Amino acid sequence: MNLTGMHIFVTGGAQGIGAAIVKDAAERGGRVSFGDIQDELGKDYARSLKKSGLDVSYVHCDVGNLESVQEAHKEIVANYGMVNGLVNNAGVNSNADPVEMTTEEWDYFFSIDLKSVWHTARCVLPAMREAKKGSIVNIASIHARMTFPKFFPYAAAKSGVIGLTRNLALDEGEHNIRTNAVSPGYTETPILTAWFNSVTPDQQKLSLDTQPLKRFAQPSEIAQVVTFLLSDAASFVNGADWIVDGGLHARFA
Ligand SMILES: NC(=O)c1ccc[n+]([C@@H]2O[C@H](COP(=O)([O-])OP(=O)(O)OC[C@H]3O[C@@H](n4cnc5c(N)ncnc54)[C@H](O)[C@@H]3O)[C@@H](O)[C@H]2O)c1
Repeated sequence: MNLTGMHIFVTGGAQGIGAAIVKDAAERGGRVSFGDIQDELGKDYARSLKKSGLDVSYVHCDVGNLESVQEAHKEIVANYGMVNGLVNNAGVNSNADPVEMTTEEWDYFFSIDLKSVWHTARCVLPAMREAKKGSIVNIASIHARMTFPKFFPYAAAKSGVIGLTRNLALDEGEHNIRTNAVSPGYTETPILTAWFNSVTPDQQKLSLDTQPLKRFAQPSEIAQVVTFLLSDAASFVNGADWIVDGGLHARFA
């Protein structure tokens, strides 16, 4: 799991799972660029990692906006050279009612949780094809397989991420570019904490009791799997969706 010589680009890297991926990839020798819309948080995080000797750089990148992605890509390539490893991590939740959700809300949400995965890939693929090497990891979710009521846009977008991953794996495999997905279960990040704080104590207890390991994941436990998939240690893993949910998907009821 050595990423020396690789330039990794992580979207949504200012906090949560993305921040853990940035740190883990840099600790394993990668030069890591990360983008986000929370500029102050991102810059502060980059400063703190640099202080501990890691080679990281922050760039503003709104994944829901193609121009912003293209600008960020130009900037990071000028800084560190071509992107060898892409992690599509940026994402938001969507709780919606199928009748009340508007088309505009759907389009906005899908631009962040699904279309962005294609847009970032479009930016990095030409150089990867030329180099005949590259690795893309898309962060999906267990919601692609099982979900909650009122979570239909999120479940649909994350299922789309896995479908897109499969096709990129087929289409880009001949260029020695591997594409895989990681589907985290409950992971202790601000997105999860916000949800956890919004439900009743009984629901909180139930959500912990149903976990086979009786706890949620730490972001670093997801990050290590992503780093593995980015690295040459995973040289024959392509088109896979790695479920990292502590065994939750094995539960029948
Ligand atoms: N935490 C979980 O339990 C969990 C479970 C399964 C999947 N996931 C997925 O993991 C990924 C990371 O989730 P997290 O829990 O770390 O969330 P988080 O909210 O803690 O972090 C998401 C990051 O993405 C950034 N972001 C949001 N919109 C953006 C945009 N338009 N452009 C660029 N950056 C943007 C945010 O600013 C934030 O820094 C998401 O794709 C999420 O769907 C999370």
